[in-house]
Amino acid sequence: MSSVFMNTYHRLPVTFTRGEGAWLFDQAGKKYLDFTSGIAVNSLGHAYPALAEAIREQAAKLIHTSNYYQSDTAAVFAEKLVAACAGAGMKKVFLANSGAEANEGAIKLARKYSLKKYGSGRHRIVTLKGSFHGRTITALSATGQDRFHKDFGPFTEGFLFVPPGDIDALDRALDPSATAGLLVEAIQGESGIVPQREAYIAAAAKLCAERDILLMFDEVQSGVGRTGTFLACEQYQDAAGFSFRPDIITLAKGLAGGVPVGAVLAGGKTEHVFEAGDHASTFGGNPLAAAAGIVVLETVARTEFLAEIRRKGEQILSAIKSWNHPRIGDVRGRGLMTGIDIDSDASAFIGAALEQGLLLITAGPHTIRLLPPYIITGEEINQGLGLMRELL
Ligand SMILES: Cc1ncc(COP(=O)(O)O)c(C=O)c1O
Repeated sequence: MSSVFMNTYHRLPVTFTRGEGAWLFDQAGKKYLDFTSGIAVNSLGHAYPALAEAIREQAAKLIHTSNYYQSDTAAVFAEKLVAACAGAGMKKVFLANSGAEANEGAIKLARKYSLKKYGSGRHRIVTLKGSFHGRTITALSATGQDRFHKDFGPFTEGFLFVPPGDIDALDRALDPSATAGLLVEAIQGESGIVPQREAYIAAAAKLCAERDILLMFDEVQSGVGRTGTFLACEQYQDAAGFSFRPDIITLAKGLAGGVPVGAVLAGGKTEHVFEAGDHASTFGGNPLAAAAGIVVLETVARTEFLAEIRRKGEQILSAIKSWNHPRIGDVRGRGLMTGIDIDSDASAFIGAALEQGLLLITAGPHTIRLLPPYIITGEEINQGLGLMRELL
């Protein structure tokens, strides 16, 4: 690895040169089964033919023009994306390049909504302990994990963290005179694949609606079909006992299958808040990213595609639970987003799996995280799980 890179990553000793489906190949031609999707990004796996073709075609025509001009490709992508989120009440979208950038946009949107309606001082954003919202200073300020904060203060003012699951604490924190929004991952990804309880999300939605505090879901990791519904928050709708509507949703990661893109979606209350000049992004939603995003959205919208993701997720959960392995603790997840607690160092386990040709990632010191590409087959899942079991 070149020594000119800043020292920000613990990179594993492998260099991939190509991929195909759920497999990656290193310089020596050794193959690896990918249970990570580049941290939930390669939603359609590697070298997905329709995605590669759309990118090739778009690159040969037009990669970028800037948001000074109109783009039919971006318009088609935006329409499809809003349609995919219409069930959650989304009406408009702003396109960005990453999860952190999408969350920054969401925070700006919430603050402006509150300022215009209630005046200054009502700008607080409540987030959950254990949350992860990104690495820019404000997304980091929203992130409820101290380990990411050290060395980087001062942070953006106006964030308050509450323990997940504690409805009383949430009730106290959502002070309507000071609070613009609640930002929550329906399933916390980075801190261990931790789904919020249904009653908690229902209570949060009710409190937010009563107090005109914006309910914002960070679906950067859990969105775009990863959990078996287009948005993970959809799985909380019926259980809530009433049909709640999120006000803002952020997406990124898997949305364009590996081409950088992020999205801020706005529901009925927030759709007209931003005015021209309020927010922008040079690359945001350029024709190349949009062309890739269209393929992902069209693929995920196919009949049975999301049901297949749910089935594959159940296959993973039931297989691991059936092992009754003494080294495995809790196993949890939705769709193709699984967290497995083990009794030893998860990083060491991942290193051993790499040697055996299986790619895994961690989510905390003792949790293995599985995020395989949506196109993985049942047989490939069994192959990867078999390797994990042998390693355990
Ligand atoms: C829930 C969530 N939000 C935000 C982010 C930040 O995304 P990005 O790395 O694209 O800025 C992540 C990244 O892991 C995430 O999991």
